[in-house]
Amino acid sequence: MEQKKQNGFSSKVGLILAAAGSAVGLGNIWKFPYVAGENGGGAFLIVYLICVLLFGLPLLMSEFIIGKTSKKPTISAFSTISGSKGWLWLGGWCVLAVTLMMGFYFVVTGWCFNYLFESVTNSFATMDTAGFSAHFDAISSSKPRMLLCGLLPIILTGTVLWFDVNKGIERLSKILMPMLLLIMFLMAVRVLMLEGSSAGMRFLFRFEWSQITPEMIMKAAGQCFFSLSLGLGLLITYGAYMPSVQDITSTSLQIVVLDTLVAVLAGIIIFPAVFAFGFNPAEGPELVFEVLPAVLQKMSLSWLSSVLFFTLLCIAALTSTISLMEVVVASICEVSGGRLNRHHSVLITGGIVSVLMALCIFFPQVFTWTDILETTILLPVGALGVSLFVGWFMPMKNKDLVPRSDKRWKTLMRPFLVFALRWIVPAAIILIFLNGQGVF
Ligand code: PFF
Repeated sequence: MEQKKQNGFSSKVGLILAAAGSAVGLGNIWKFPYVAGENGGGAFLIVYLICVLLFGLPLLMSEFIIGKTSKKPTISAFSTISGSKGWLWLGGWCVLAVTLMMGFYFVVTGWCFNYLFESVTNSFATMDTAGFSAHFDAISSSKPRMLLCGLLPIILTGTVLWFDVNKGIERLSKILMPMLLLIMFLMAVRVLMLEGSSAGMRFLFRFEWSQITPEMIMKAAGQCFFSLSLGLGLLITYGAYMPSVQDITSTSLQIVVLDTLVAVLAGIIIFPAVFAFGFNPAEGPELVFEVLPAVLQKMSLSWLSSVLFFTLLCIAALTSTISLMEVVVASICEVSGGRLNRHHSVLITGGIVSVLMALCIFFPQVFTWTDILETTILLPVGALGVSLFVGWFMPMKNKDLVPRSDKRWKTLMRPFLVFALRWIVPAAIILIFLNGQGVF
């Protein structure tokens, strides 16, 4: 019988760039540099890398293992491997978390597109430093404008997903990710040439061992989960599209390295510039949408710097929205049992996410609740489910499901992976969860 050609990535590098694009997002650009700078700089970076190796990498690998083994999208991957409908809830849980996350994430992506548009039209040229703060408040509360700015990335993401994975996601990731890295290198060189930039480098990279406290470790662990987008099963769907010859261990390591490189580069761009012009290194949306536009205006070639920076932000956000939406698109096709094709599914998902985004825009409390629900319940339960499924269930069900390799260091990976997924990852998730509830 002739086999139907599987929809998937046609090259290893395509999958690596798409998965790294899924991980690289606003968290790398506005969250990592600030949290690192505030919590011991270089010492934070070391603790963060340890967290990445101890539980970021094992969780990332387990999502790929589930996807590559089942060859199914997130929704039915667990039940396919286990052969039991009892595991359907975990796939459903991940897809629910992704769906709600999309409403929230497209609002923030809309802010990025709005700022890119304003940079291109040079609207910031006449604004004074104080004006940027009022401007962000005005923009984020202008509902029709936010709706338009959020719909644009939804349409762009839907257009990419309209095509098969190798023609849409893969082709675009091969263009966008190198572009993102190139813009970052250019901007880093440019910023490091500014007088007074060394204070920013000191803020980011100084070693303060005394700052290694349980609280800082919790922050590094939380940042690792967020930055690698763990707990949503995003990479299960990408794993299902993985070429069969692709090695999960090296692929996951490369993704982790790329994600960390982008976070560190973002810090090298942002803080030297902020310090060189004497601004306050604020956190989160405030840093990116109020402080940085003002900083960029002070630089020579301000128009170009501003356009480059917001292009970078839009690319980082888009590569994440593509992976989020693909999980839902693939799951709808799967659940419909082939009655709905990719195009129907893109239209349905686009409709659902537009409604969710509109709810977040018209009712700001929905935006806040979604954020809280995701970080306190949906993501931790998803991540715990994935680690327990691969750590306890899969090796017993079929001992060869965890990748083996003839290379020595990779052989050691297998027992490490099982141990980490059984004990380290669940313990870390429970500790982060309790910390979030204020138990400590
Ligand atoms: N990993 C993304 C970032 O660092 O910005 C954040 C993220 C995107 C988390 C998408 C979860 C997600 F589904």
